[in-house]
Amino acid sequence: MEAMPGDKPDRGRVAIVTGAGSGIGRATALLFAERGASVIAADIDEVAARETGALAKAADGTLLAVRVDVARPEDAEAMVAAALGTFGRLDVLVNDAAVLVSKSAADTTPEEWNRVIGVNLTGTYLCSRAALRPMLHQASGVIVNLASPHAFQTGRAIAAYAASKGGIVALTRQMALDYGQHGIRVNCVSPGAIDTPMLRADIQQGVDWEANLAGWERNQPIGRLGTPEDIARVIVWLASPDAGFVMGATIVADGGLLAQLLPYTSPRSKENTPA
Ligand SMILES: NC(=O)c1ccc[n+]([C@@H]2O[C@H](COP(=O)([O-])OP(=O)(O)OC[C@H]3O[C@@H](n4cnc5c(N)ncnc54)[C@H](O)[C@@H]3O)[C@@H](O)[C@H]2O)c1
Repeated sequence: MEAMPGDKPDRGRVAIVTGAGSGIGRATALLFAERGASVIAADIDEVAARETGALAKAADGTLLAVRVDVARPEDAEAMVAAALGTFGRLDVLVNDAAVLVSKSAADTTPEEWNRVIGVNLTGTYLCSRAALRPMLHQASGVIVNLASPHAFQTGRAIAAYAASKGGIVALTRQMALDYGQHGIRVNCVSPGAIDTPMLRADIQQGVDWEANLAGWERNQPIGRLGTPEDIARVIVWLASPDAGFVMGATIVADGGLLAQLLPYTSPRSKENTPA
C-alpha cells in the first residue's frame, strides 16, 4: 500500500500487544492505534484491556480487546486467530505481559517459579509460536519482546524474574536467526525503571516506598523514572521499517541505568561527576 501525504504511518498494519491492560503495554497499544494500526489489546485482565479499548476509541483508533493468559497455549492460539479473523493479517507481536515475584531462589515456591517463567518466558515463546505461523505465510512480520535490566545486572530477591528476562534476551537472538531470512525481525527492548503499576507494586513491598521510589529516580543517570510512553516509542520504532536492519538486538532504553559501574549516588561516582 502506498502511503499518502498526511496518512498515518501504521495504517493497514495489524499489531497484537500482550499485557495491554496496563503500563508499557497499554501505552504501546494506544500508540499503535494512534498511528493507524489495527490493534489487538490482549491481557489476562479483560476489564483493563477493555479500558485500553475505550481510550483508543476516544482517540479514534481501532482496537479489539481480548482476554488471554499468555501462559496457556490455547489462549495464545485464540489471540492470533482473533487477529486474523477480525483484521485478516498479523504484522506485529509485542510480548509485553509479565509478572514479578520479589523473592530469592530459596524463598520462591515451585508454583511461583513456574508462574513467573510460565508467563514471562514460556508466554513469549507461546505467543511467538502462534504468531509465526501467519507471519511465515506472509513472509513478513516483527516480534518485539520485553526484557529488563535484570537480564544483565540484577539485585537481591528477584530470582525467577531475572531468570525469565535473561531467557527472553537469549530467545530473541535465537528466533532472529531462525526467521530473519523469512522476512521476520525479532528484537527486544530492555527498559529501565518505568513508572507503572508493576514498578510501584514492587517498591511498595519496601518499608519506605517513597524513599525507594526517589532512590530509583536518583539511580538513573537521567534523573527520573521512565514513562510508559518512553518505552512505547522505542517498541513502535523497532516495529517500523525505520528499524528494518535491526535484528536479534536488545535495545537498552533505561535512562543510563546499565551504563554505570557504581551506583550513580555513591561517593566515588559523585567525585567523578564534573561540576
Ligand atoms: N515497569 C518497569 O520498570 C519495567 C522495567 C523493565 C522491564 N519491564 C517489563 O515491561 C513489561 C511491562 O511492564 P509494566 O511495568 O508495564 O507492567 P504492568 O504490571 O503495569 O502491566 C503488565 C500487564 O500484563 C498483564 N498480565 C500479567 N500476566 C498476564 C498473563 N498471564 N497473560 C496476559 N496478560 C498478563 C497484567 O494484567 C498487566 O496488565 C513487562 O514485560 C516487564 O517485565 C518493566
